[in-house]
Amino acid sequence: MKRIKLLVAALCLAGSVYSQGNNYTQDYTKYQGLALTPPMGWNSWNKFACNVDENLIKQVADAMVSTGMKDAGYTYINIDDCWHGDRDSLGFIHPDAKRFPSGMKALADYVHAKGLKLGIYSDAGSETCGGRPGSRGYEFQDALTYAKWGIDYLKYDWCNTEGLHGEGAYKTIAAALKKAGRPMVLSICEWGTDQPWKWGPQVGHLWRTTGDIYNCFDCIKDNGSWHANGVMKILDMQKGLRQYAGPGHWNDPDMLEVGNGMVTNEDRAHFTLWCMIAAPLIAGNDLRSMSPQTAAILKNKEVIALDQDSLGVQGYQYAVKDSLETWLKPLKGGDWAVCFLNRGTGVQPVNFDWKKEVITDSLSKAILDAQKQVYTLKNLWTGKNAGTTKSPLKGVVPAHDVLIFRLHQQR
Ligand code: GLA
Repeated sequence: MKRIKLLVAALCLAGSVYSQGNNYTQDYTKYQGLALTPPMGWNSWNKFACNVDENLIKQVADAMVSTGMKDAGYTYINIDDCWHGDRDSLGFIHPDAKRFPSGMKALADYVHAKGLKLGIYSDAGSETCGGRPGSRGYEFQDALTYAKWGIDYLKYDWCNTEGLHGEGAYKTIAAALKKAGRPMVLSICEWGTDQPWKWGPQVGHLWRTTGDIYNCFDCIKDNGSWHANGVMKILDMQKGLRQYAGPGHWNDPDMLEVGNGMVTNEDRAHFTLWCMIAAPLIAGNDLRSMSPQTAAILKNKEVIALDQDSLGVQGYQYAVKDSLETWLKPLKGGDWAVCFLNRGTGVQPVNFDWKKEVITDSLSKAILDAQKQVYTLKNLWTGKNAGTTKSPLKGVVPAHDVLIFRLHQQR
């Protein structure tokens, strides 16, 4: 009898030990403390698609430093689709040996030695969008592999996911990354299908809100079974989502097309609006050969500072008149960013009387009150001071371009 009691006590103890912590419970949440401002970096897809190899990635890492992009805040070098080779007999994934002969660990070491971070790409389905091996069924094994390689960022795509549920699939990879033990940014790329803004903040650090971007200002690119969208179309699709963004969790309107074919003023408008909506700033051009105009756009520290503002409030469309839109973004310390976007093909005049009304952001409760408070204005593309809010702002916005000001409270 005594023995039976002892056995029962031992089993109960074992049971309670296991229920408090064991190696099969999972933590389906992201790593905390990462991407407290929108992530900044570069990704291979928009310019190079499947043409990736280790020389390209090393040269881009070199260019990130030599062009001053790193100094401007860009950190992640992200390899998108098509780096993959095959799985071995135990199921471990290997990079394409022809394209990455030195292996991913060596590449990560190279990138880290420059003070940068390395990102990689996989897919929740059986195959990636480019037809390479996906992570379905191999999530924990792949996460372990990426951690061993020294990867810092995972973009996780949504092709070939027949029957999968978005939230569940992304929770599985989040748990796998946690188990692997190396902090990684998780970029959810399921195109807004399952409303990732609703569950994404716990699971990942950013989530795509739309299908793919295309390097035109306001077109739709028909690819047969799917279409890609120009930057203004993508901007329009961000409506109603700003409440979901904040430090550590961002709406992702897709990577930048700056330097990929639009004219300079369109690139400037694209970049400025991405900063206004606190978008991740992932350059998608060839950093090794960018023009001075492209570099000047991507490296404008004062415009970047709007994106990276620690308050983390996504900006919003405040007014629309004809083809002229007024966008606002409250900033830390009572400053505001005010952007006038001209979507039309002719010049648009701007006449904005700051004192006409007190502006309150219903989300952050920030107040722009030019009746009680004087703000100084700085034009962030010319770098020039532009007076104060005591008098109305008068100016013109060229076609497909922006005027952007930072308002600072005069004390
Ligand atoms: C999808 C993604 C893109 C890119 C490609 C790669 O279309 O949305 O951003 O990663 O796959 O095949």
